[in-house]
Amino acid sequence: MTLPVTLPASWYTSDELLGIAKKKIFNKGWHFISPITKFTRDQEDGQRFCQLDLLENPFFIENSIEDVYQVNSVEAYYGKHKCLFTGHETDSQVEHVLSTLARASTHVTKSGLLFVCHESSPPDFNAFFGNQLDQFIEGKDFRSIAHRRKLSYECDYGFLTFIDGYQECLHCAYTHPGLAKAYCMDFYKVETYTNFCRHLADSNEKAGEDDTEAPDPGLFIYFFPTCALNFYAGGMGVFRCCPLTGSKCRMEFDYFFDGSDEDFEKYYEFARQVAIEDIELCEACQKNLESGIYQVGTLNPDKEKGVVYYQKLIREKIMV
Ligand SMILES: [Fe+2]
Repeated sequence: MTLPVTLPASWYTSDELLGIAKKKIFNKGWHFISPITKFTRDQEDGQRFCQLDLLENPFFIENSIEDVYQVNSVEAYYGKHKCLFTGHETDSQVEHVLSTLARASTHVTKSGLLFVCHESSPPDFNAFFGNQLDQFIEGKDFRSIAHRRKLSYECDYGFLTFIDGYQECLHCAYTHPGLAKAYCMDFYKVETYTNFCRHLADSNEKAGEDDTEAPDPGLFIYFFPTCALNFYAGGMGVFRCCPLTGSKCRMEFDYFFDGSDEDFEKYYEFARQVAIEDIELCEACQKNLESGIYQVGTLNPDKEKGVVYYQKLIREKIMV
């Protein structure tokens, strides 16, 4: 039996690879962005627009949603809002500028998730996800959970280093003691679909004696290439790993929560602890990659199924 091998080590640090990835991966297909509740009017930071940029293809969205249940489409305008607006324009001046801008294609699912595509003729949304995504997201109501906090910072690791870590959980038991306590890592598994994966872990939380319902296993979905939705314990976390160079990323997080401020802070602290543990691990890993110690290795087709899956997609798209 031939074991799958990892991507070449040089790809993990290469600015040149990023240029190819932009053209062949990031500018193609549908990209998960966030539940639409991120774009409601009256943002905490007072911003009228939300700037997004997965990889050198900036676009922005107006934070103008008043009733999330009435919204089935979202406009995404190409450009940087800070270069276009001073904040002193009248509504009609803003409208005029917006009307002149090119727009990215967008798709809002019935459950309230926003996706963006940069292709001039976008592929059919459901077919792009192999007609397999609905079964996981359409039973949920992502509009019911309010956006509570966002966070963005740069990290010293490349996107491949980060996604390698997200797509397996062999490191979880020793890197994330809190997560390993809440979820039974022995039963961690990754199911692979078309352009996305579902991660599964058994909750260690036992249902009460009078409560015959099983604990909520949560919903963890990885969207190729660098975004994910993690929905559990009444909270929802989204990350977008946006490559900056071959060995640098901007990490963007959005946290959604249904509950009191106090409960949100507990959820947030838990989610942030896991994210901070991953930064340390990925930055240390990137240092080793930069030093040239690592060349290529084999992957465990069972325990590293998620890594095998996404690396195969990366390889296929880059080599075409
Ligand atoms: Fe991790």
